[in-house]
Amino acid sequence: MNILEQTKQDVNHKLVLVDHANGHIFSNEKDGITNYENSMKKAIHAITNTLKERKTPFTGKSIEALKDRFERIKFEHFEETHSLEYVIEELKELYLDDCVHFHHPKYIAHLNCPILTPTLVAEAFISSLNSSMDTWDQSTGGTFIELKLIDWTLDILGYPKSGDGIFTSGGTQSNMMGLLLARDHYIKNNYAIDPKMDGLPADASKFRVFCSEVSHFSLKKNLSLLGLGQNAVIPVSVDVDFKMDIKKLELAIEEQKQVGNIPIAIVGTAGTTDFGSIDPLIAISALAKQNNLWFHVDAAYGGGLLISKKHRHKLKGIELSDSATIDYHKTFYQPVSSSGFFMRNKSFVDYIKYHADYLNSKEQDEEGIPNMVKKSIQTTRRFDALKLWFTLRIIGIQGLSSYLEKAIENAQFTAEYLKKRDDFEIIHQPEISAIVFRYTPYSDLDISYCNLNSHIRKAVFNEGKAIITSTKVREEVFLKFTLLNPLTTTKDIEEVIDLIVFHGQQYSLKN
Ligand SMILES: Cc1ncc(COP(=O)(O)O)c(C=O)c1O
Repeated sequence: MNILEQTKQDVNHKLVLVDHANGHIFSNEKDGITNYENSMKKAIHAITNTLKERKTPFTGKSIEALKDRFERIKFEHFEETHSLEYVIEELKELYLDDCVHFHHPKYIAHLNCPILTPTLVAEAFISSLNSSMDTWDQSTGGTFIELKLIDWTLDILGYPKSGDGIFTSGGTQSNMMGLLLARDHYIKNNYAIDPKMDGLPADASKFRVFCSEVSHFSLKKNLSLLGLGQNAVIPVSVDVDFKMDIKKLELAIEEQKQVGNIPIAIVGTAGTTDFGSIDPLIAISALAKQNNLWFHVDAAYGGGLLISKKHRHKLKGIELSDSATIDYHKTFYQPVSSSGFFMRNKSFVDYIKYHADYLNSKEQDEEGIPNMVKKSIQTTRRFDALKLWFTLRIIGIQGLSSYLEKAIENAQFTAEYLKKRDDFEIIHQPEISAIVFRYTPYSDLDISYCNLNSHIRKAVFNEGKAIITSTKVREEVFLKFTLLNPLTTTKDIEEVIDLIVFHGQQYSLKN
């Protein structure tokens, strides 16, 4: 093929492609830019309409009704094409009209925060420019933004200058990294084995990790993924405030040694999922040192306290840990996903570091080119750090910390409000912003509080005016509020409690 023919073919190919793509490929071609601008305007319009139209966090739509809508869509339909307007209109029915609004002041169920508008602007940059954070040649300035925020987080954690960290997909992944480092650190220091090359020693089935009985389930799941099995978790009893009982921890370590098992790590939780309780970090650190154990802190929930002058003291001791998990997509008001894993010594990176010639060769290291992939268990990785960057640059630390402080005040208000009533049982004083309680109106009636409170949770959800959740404490069902929205007022809280009472009374009338 001569040059002329080749050029003709290229031009034709481009014509066909442009015709087919119709500006859909994000590019600096005129069509690409116009389509991008018009499409984003339509998306913003649809989203703002959704916000304006919806007055409640949920609509109460049944699973059956939603399932039916999806059953009507067949795989053959993916052969057809539609305009963006059509797809947005269809999405209204399939998702938008009934999706759960985490930003609604009466969404007080799980650990989902309302998000900040600057983060949504950042999202536009993140997803359109689509940098990947694994290597410098895919991210350039983005790497420095992430590094700056890692340094900032190390600073608020109180880790020494030798520390390091990485953005991750969530607390589950960050906890996995903590446990992985703990496992390999132990092996490296106690066996003539390099775990990265040789895998686990025969003794690994005896490795034991101690955490409170109310710690997050990701610890168990991760230990099974790490080849140590869920039985490696030794759950330690908690005290009346749902904090790890330090005496019980000491005993558990001794007991495990006596039966021939091998303690390797302790995980302290700074903000348990249900209660927001914070384990005694300083005392745990001392026990970890005494027994030569790795100390990881799961501060997925509590991490946001680090920037609050008022509440920072509650995490005292986190600076003594070997590694820590922080979920920015919880108490730093970031959209999913945005999380971090931090270690007190950058040499720990060696346990996971890998040099791929095509990506991050040893030579690049020698040339001082920063590459983040060696610190991560992911390869391709989103530029989530930009959302936190926009947050800190636009709202600042004080502004950001005021949101969680308000949520904490709301939790304290709820506790006081419920304590004054005789139809509720509250089982702890909230330390962060989660509060567990139950409706217990009829001490003389033969009514199961478990059934009553299970019913209340479901009925409130199905009605859609508010969303709360439930959990089990020592096999009994309790209700739970996780308050994160600073726009939630005390009136909102009172109204949700009224709903609880209303549905509770309805249930008792029928049973
Ligand atoms: C204490 C704690 N750790 C870890 C996690 C897991 O975090 P993620 O959902 O971001 O993976 C959670 C989630 O709620 C949590 O509450």
